[in-house]
Parts: sequence; structure tokens; C-alpha cells
Amino acid sequence: MNLRPAHRKFWLVLHILSASAWIGVDVMVAVLVGAGELGGSSRGLAYQALGSFVVWPMLVSGLVCLVTGLVLGLGTKWGLVRYWWVAVKLVLNVVLCTLILVLLRPGMPAIRAYGERLSAGESVSFDVSRLIMPPIVSLTLLSLATVLSVYKPWGRVRRRTSSRRAEPVGRGVEPAGRGVEPVGRRGESVGRRGESVGRGVASVGRREESAARLADEASGQRARQATAKRAARTP
Ligand code: HEM
Repeated sequence: MNLRPAHRKFWLVLHILSASAWIGVDVMVAVLVGAGELGGSSRGLAYQALGSFVVWPMLVSGLVCLVTGLVLGLGTKWGLVRYWWVAVKLVLNVVLCTLILVLLRPGMPAIRAYGERLSAGESVSFDVSRLIMPPIVSLTLLSLATVLSVYKPWGRVRRRTSSRRAEPVGRGVEPAGRGVEPVGRRGESVGRRGESVGRGVASVGRREESAARLADEASGQRARQATAKRAARTP
């Protein structure tokens, strides 16, 4: 499947918006946890908001980010497990969504109830220390995913060392396929520069082809020598 440039941009906008919303909700969680921990008159309200409004926006933005990422991966030459930076993001996205569902969501009603009792002026105790890690872990991993998206490091998951077909092997360089804009090392549209990148990729492909041809010739020669030796040994 190849996305047309306009469609790719549409999905990319949705992808970036959902990733940003996800990071935004995480920042909000960090602020609410901080407000709850630091005390003051708004403690009860902070925990009520945390228990009532956070999980679903976080989960929805995480799932939209996942789905749009899947569409972009499948709809462009990046693939889902063709490049390390996409594969790692896929794992991060799935792990984070699972953690939201399995670890975060079940504890939320108790946190809301705790906030309500605090607001009502009751003196209650509740272990809120486990609320500190989720925003830290999530914000760290989402920042990592953002860095991976921009720098696109580590190249392809499985590199072919010699191939008869002219395959681009440049680090993070993507061929300008049908419906996909020419992209530079960082995946940005590069316009006319993309043509020279394309020429560079083609020359890498030509070098690969001639290396493969030389390897074939050498192995043919070895096979002929072995046959000649066998023939010489045969009475
Ligand atoms: C974990 C959360 C994620 C964040 C924060 C994130 C963030 C981003 C950002 C900021 C970009 C724009 C980069 C640029 O244009 O230079 C991007 C592009 C991209 N993302 Fe993600 N992403 C995430 C998850 C995923 C997942 C799960 C996948 C695939 C399974 C994915 C696949 C892609 C692809 C293929 C592109 C490049 C699209 C293109 O240029 O055509 N992302 N991502």
C-alpha cells in the first residue's frame, strides 16, 4: 500500500496531533500528581481530577497515535518492522497503551474517592507514592519516541549485504517511491535535493550490483577450477 502525498500528510498531521495530545495529557498528570503531593487546599480537587478525567483521554490519544502510526508505516516505504526507529516506536506505543489499561485504569476510582474524601474535609490516608512513576516513565518514553521520529537512527532492521537489485542502503534514506515524497536522511521533504539524494542512492545501488556481479564471477571461476581438478584426478 502506498499513500498518496496528500493522504500521507493528512495521516501525519493526525499522528503528530495525537502524539502531542498524549504528551500533553501526561504533563497534566504530572502537574496533578505534583499538586496532590505538595498539599494545600486543592489536594482533594487534584486527586478527583486525576481519578476522573485522565485515563480515557490518555488511552484515546495513545490508540489514535498507534493507529495513525500503523497507517503511516504500512502506507509508506518505512514499513512497521523495516526500520529500527519505527519498530521500537511500535513496541513503546503498545507497551504504554497496555500499561494504561492494566496498571493505571484499575486504580483510578480509588484515587477519585480519596480526593472526594479529602475535599469533604475527612482525614484519610492513602499511598499515593505509586502515582509518581507513571508520568515519569510515560513522558520519558514518549520523548524517546519523538527523538526517534525526528533523528530516525539505526537504519534498517535487516540489511542486505549484497543484492542483485539496486536497493537503497543509505542510513535512513528512503527511496522516492510512488506516492511518497523524496525524503532526506531525517525523512523530511527535500524537493530538488531529493533528486540528488535519489542519484546518490542509485549510485550506491550500481556499486552493489557490480559487487554482486564480481562475487558471482569469482564463485563461477572457483566452480570451474574445482571441476577441472576433479577431471584431472579421474583416470
Ligand atoms: C510512541 C509514540 C509516538 C510518537 C511520540 C510519534 C511521533 C512521531 C513524530 C513527531 C513524527 C513526525 C516525524 C517527522 O515527520 O520528521 C512521526 C512520524 C512517523 N511515525 Fe510516529 N510516533 C509514535 C508512534 C508511532 C508508531 C507506533 C508507529 C508505527 C507503528 C509510527 C510510525 C511513524 C512513521 C512511519 C512516521 C513517518 C511518516 C512519514 O514521514 O511518512 N509512530 N512520529
